[in-house]
Parts: sequence; C-alpha cells; structure tokens
Amino acid sequence: MTATRGLEGVVATTSSVSSIIDDTLTYVGYDIDDLTENASFEEIIYLLWHLRLPNKTELAELKKQLAKEAAVPQEIIEHFKSYPLNNVHPPMAALRTAISLLGLTDSEADVMNPEANYRKAIRLQAKVPGIVAAFSRIRKGLDPVEPKEEYGIAENFLYTLNGEDPSPIEVEAFNKALILHADHELNASTFTARVCVATLSDIYSGITAAIGALKGPLHGGANEAVMKMLTEIGEVENAEPYIRSKMEKKEKVMGFGHRVYKHGDPRAKHLKEMSKRLTNLTGESKWYDMSIRVEEIVTSEKKLPPNVDFYSASVYHSLGIDHDLFTPIFAVSRMSGWIAHILEQYDNNRLIRPRAEYTGPDKQTFVPIDERA
Ligand code: COA
Repeated sequence: MTATRGLEGVVATTSSVSSIIDDTLTYVGYDIDDLTENASFEEIIYLLWHLRLPNKTELAELKKQLAKEAAVPQEIIEHFKSYPLNNVHPPMAALRTAISLLGLTDSEADVMNPEANYRKAIRLQAKVPGIVAAFSRIRKGLDPVEPKEEYGIAENFLYTLNGEDPSPIEVEAFNKALILHADHELNASTFTARVCVATLSDIYSGITAAIGALKGPLHGGANEAVMKMLTEIGEVENAEPYIRSKMEKKEKVMGFGHRVYKHGDPRAKHLKEMSKRLTNLTGESKWYDMSIRVEEIVTSEKKLPPNVDFYSASVYHSLGIDHDLFTPIFAVSRMSGWIAHILEQYDNNRLIRPRAEYTGPDKQTFVPIDERA
C-alpha cells in the first residue's frame, strides 16, 4: 500500500453535480461563464439540487420555500447575544456552532428520508445568509434585520447585513460571487461533508464538518488572508518588495495556485472584472491596482495564476463587508454545493473508509509501566 500525498489525482467518487475538465468548470454540464453572466443564484441552487434548470413555476416555488424558512431561530439569536460585545469570536467558529445548534433545534434532524432531507436542505440554505448577517450585527450591538420576502438571496443578504437597500450593481456583483463559489467538484470541504454523511449521519453534521474544513487558509480562509495581505501592502509601490520578501522566505502568497487548475482558475476573471468596476465606483481603485501588481509579480516569478479567492477579497471589501466575514460568505454560497453533494451521497451511499500506509515502528514488545524509563 502506497499513500498518495494529499490524495492528489485520486478519483474518490462519481458525481453529476459539477466537473473540472481542462481548466473548465461546469455545473451539471453548464459552463460557469455562461451561468455567471445569465443566471440568478436561486437558479443555481435548483440546478445543483435537481441536476436540471428550473422552469418559471419551479423557480418561483423554490424562492417561496426559501423565503418561508429565512427567519433565524431565536435560539441562535440568543446564542450570539451571549457573546461579549467585541470581535473575539471568529465568525467561522460562530457559524460552525450556529449550524450545529440549528440541527439541535430541528425536530426532523435525524429523519433520513429524501423528503425530510430536502426540507432540511431548504432550511439550511434559507437560514445561512441571515445567520451570518445576524452575527455581524449583534457583535456590533445592532439588532438583526428581518429579510424582505420580495428579495432574492443576494439582495437580502446585503440588506440584512447593512440594514439598507443595496444598489443594483452591488446586488449583481454579489449574485455573481455567490454563483462562482457555489460548487467546485470534490474540494476539501465538500469531500469532508460527503465523508461525514456517508456514515449515514445527518445533514447538519455534514454541513458543520464542511464549515470546519472551509475555515482553513488553504481553502476558504484564503480570501480573508488575501485582504490582510493587501492591507499590509497598503500602496501599489509596496507590492513588489512585499511579495519578493515573501517569496524569499518561501512563504505562500494567498490567493494563488490551485490543486486542480494548472493554467488558471476560470472563476478569477469574473471577480477581477467585478473588482475593477466596484473599486472604481467606491473611488478606491488602489485595491484593484495593488491586486494587479501582485498578480503580475506572482505569475511572472512563480508561474502561479490567481484563484477564486484573490479578487473576491477586493470585491467583498468594496461591498463594505467586514474582512472576517469573507469566508462565512463563501459558506453561504457553498451551502448549495455541499447540500447537492450530500443529497447525491445519500442517494447512492457507501461508507467512505480509505486506508493508511503505516510508517510507524513494527514488532514492538509491550513493557509494563513500572519497567518503563
Ligand atoms: N504561493 C507560493 N508558492 C506556492 C503557492 C502560493 N500560493 N501555491 C503553491 N506554491 C508552490 C509551493 O510552495 C510548492 O512549491 P515547491 O514544490 O517548490 O515546494 C508548489 O507550488 C506546490 O504547492 P503545494 O502546496 O504542494 O500544492 P497543493 O496542490 O498541495 O496546494 C493550494 C494547492 C491551493 C493549497 C496552494 O496553491 C496554496 O496554498 N495556495 C494559497 C492558498 C489559497 O489561495 N487557497 C485557496 C485555494 S482556492
């Protein structure tokens, strides 16, 4: 038995949800470029969960179901209110705890038939934007804002976060960002979710586990790390010495490189374009200019193209979102993909239990504790 480090290149399951072939990302066979330009995030949710696009009636029904379940349970509000009024609680830890708590308050949590699992899927997708927005407001001493029934997920998230109506361009940018992050084949958090529910554990456990995996800076946490880096760079002229010093110290530049894409992440160009538009609009084009300079240096020196997280940092910053909420926002979007994969796993389940190549000592003889040095 020989281990494959990081499971690189290992094909661990079949899936009909999304694919990455020749650096092209598709959801159920639709190119991400096409979907980003033309779809709403709700259409993507339907596509991922039903493996086909909805007609008008089906989309309207999904939106109705999501709106009906959008309120954040009082238990979660009270839980967030029990935190001290400062930033000591990292939002991803709060979100991970909140989703686990949501499972505890759902009387159907352990009902495992497809209908109950679909109802739980709706609840999770409907509530996660409000949970992130409520956390953000409560930690600032503000009251949570009720979502508007007539708004879609993108509009409602920005509205419940800031308490004011977002502009059409902000909604368009956020809708695109949600679509671009919705699914990504067998990424680390999706694999985590599938491993968890393949034991026939419940959907809340699968999502809680996935959030834990997304939190790390090699995965979803990279977008926040990119913003930290841009903030440290501060001005365009500092980019070159900053990045060169990082490279000399053999440190990774966050937002670059990818396990699967070798010639570039197809999602990055959409976020780059949005970053340009939004930073222009806010009069803070320095974030875009700095990002461009960092990209130039990293691609020429290391031949590493930017990934989805690199330009999403300046996009979210331009939308006025707190930097430590960037990864929870990734979770709001990826919830749709996690759920699609969990439902697919339940539908054709087999326990996921790989092997390890043993590298420890062999043939040891037990020494009683009194005789050990
Ligand atoms: N900056 C500098 N060097 C990088 C790099 C980065 N962002 N990403 C990869 N490399 C280098 C590694 O140092 C390594 O070089 P070496 O062979 O000389 O040691 C080589 O490229 C392979 O990297 P490795 O970490 O083994 O690749 P991986 O497939 O395991 O990891 C990522 C993929 C995404 C985790 C990795 O590229 C990374 O850490 N990127 C930064 C974090 C990030 O943006 N994550 C979000 C992913 S969407």
